Amino acid sequence: MKDLKYNEIREKYLDFFKKKGHAEIPSAPLVPENDPSVLFVNAGMFPLVPFLMGEKHPKGTRLTNSQRCVRTGDIDEAGNNFHCTSFEMLGNWSLNDYFKEEAIRYTLEFFVGELGLDINNIYASVFGGEDGIPEDKVSISTWENLFKEYGIDAKVGEGERIQKFGKKENWWGLDSGGPCGPDSEIFYDTGKEPCGENCNINCNCGKYIEIGNNVFMEYLKEGDDLKPLGRHNVDFGGGLERITAVIQKVDNVYEIDIYKPILEKIQEITEKNIDTKVNTGDMLKSQRIIVDHIKASTWIVMDGVVPSSNQQGYILRRLIRRAVRHAKKLNIKQPFTKEIAEVAIDQFSPTYPELDEKREEIIKIIEEEEIKFNNTLENGLKELENLLEQKNKISGEDAFKLYETYGLPLEVTEEILAEKNITLKERQNFFSAQEEHQEKSRTASKGLFKGGLADTSEVSVRYHTATHLLLASLRKVLGEHVYQKGSNITPERLRLDFPNESKLTSEELKQVEDLVNSAIKQELNVTFEEHPKEEALKIIEKYSSTSSFEEKYPDIVKVYYIGDKEAPFSIELCNGPHVNNTKELGKFKIVKQENIGAGVKRIKAILK
Ligand code: SER
Repeated sequence: MKDLKYNEIREKYLDFFKKKGHAEIPSAPLVPENDPSVLFVNAGMFPLVPFLMGEKHPKGTRLTNSQRCVRTGDIDEAGNNFHCTSFEMLGNWSLNDYFKEEAIRYTLEFFVGELGLDINNIYASVFGGEDGIPEDKVSISTWENLFKEYGIDAKVGEGERIQKFGKKENWWGLDSGGPCGPDSEIFYDTGKEPCGENCNINCNCGKYIEIGNNVFMEYLKEGDDLKPLGRHNVDFGGGLERITAVIQKVDNVYEIDIYKPILEKIQEITEKNIDTKVNTGDMLKSQRIIVDHIKASTWIVMDGVVPSSNQQGYILRRLIRRAVRHAKKLNIKQPFTKEIAEVAIDQFSPTYPELDEKREEIIKIIEEEEIKFNNTLENGLKELENLLEQKNKISGEDAFKLYETYGLPLEVTEEILAEKNITLKERQNFFSAQEEHQEKSRTASKGLFKGGLADTSEVSVRYHTATHLLLASLRKVLGEHVYQKGSNITPERLRLDFPNESKLTSEELKQVEDLVNSAIKQELNVTFEEHPKEEALKIIEKYSSTSSFEEKYPDIVKVYYIGDKEAPFSIELCNGPHVNNTKELGKFKIVKQENIGAGVKRIKAILK
């Protein structure tokens, strides 16, 4: 196995796929634009959904990148050996180009040929058929043939080199629908003893590490229906942290070269506050959680999020607060997030220069939340005293309320009680209350996924075109200083943020609304042209501000026109998709205007 660093593995991967005819595309920002279906980009394929559905990608049919991702579902698992809240996903895609045989061959060639993994330790899982969908015969025979080429007589079956599973393990698509299909994962056997009789490649004990997944997108899920997509796409994703852990022969991602200095920093801070009451196992877990959460926070703030009580801001707040709570467990009394964030930024800024450019701002935002939470914690302690005075005891449920309202960790509550020789009553109820709460928030966050996959549903496409009309109309009424600062679309409404010092008068709002509706009535065609970025920027220069687009867009971009190209009603750089004609939009109505601070206004509008 080659001795490679995190950044070198990424580079090798991108070079390998570029040699195989793939164009490299930039990592999209973590917060999806125009898409309500997830809070953060959680896989490399996410920003590519329109292209997986059939939109033409300006860079061709073979793409590759390393996409920064955040998985909110993994927050509670962070600190385990192989889970991180934020990570990079290496990706290669075929947009109706190559399919199963070539994809699996590339994957294996990369891992064995380029990275030098021992083929004898490689295992594969394939879709074995379920719900009337047949087993993935092509993937099975491809793996058999490839193993044979490497001199291995691979069998298919339980405990064998190629193992079949059902939909739960070997099917990939977003909950909300869209392109999906069977997948085939590749695993590396670390040589650890199996954890028991039932240990298989999907077991989480650390013997087998999943290092990549090829999704063969040949189906389309719409509601409960599954139909052929009419295209054959490949979506490969591999977690860079995990791959690095395998290459560097460490049994957890926190020890890989890029994370180690961050871990060492928190260990150094812990040393100074060492508390013999904390056992080493717990200590390490808390340290890893701090590394994970503060590093993820630096990325999230870099991408424009600030702590708040909802959506992305809430996740960020939760990450920072949880890190602070774990620091308390380590007996760290002074503010510490700055020191950790500094190292996290140093480590990742060669890849994300924006981290360094925004260093001060990022650190300040995280530190302010830390300080705020420390103050809240103090209130929590006061409340605990009050409760004790009133009832002379604290139950598990009270402890959960203290945790929920003031962020007072159970362990801290117990410690304080112990000092007063009081034991926590019905301790178990803390966990049942917590379970109930988690169930509620799980249900709430599920709701978020309803909107549809990188939402290409018809209604969202209509809202997307309406957003272009709204922006153009605002510029006509208010002036050229208006540009899209942010946009968010759900199947229920559109939302557009733009700079403007004062709130729009009701007259102005009416003018804007009328302009949009007149564009709809004129039945304008929506068309696009592809241009090299520089050229495209020149074309649209006189129509709209481009600042937010420059870094995000690839070298060849689409210019969307609404109306006659010589004198368009609207012209924007955009990936699409859009309706073909504005007559498909119906009636446009502004339902709300808000001032969201710093000279930015927000308009919400619906189509009827
Ligand atoms: N989208 C698939 C995954 O996340 C493969 O990239 O596993």
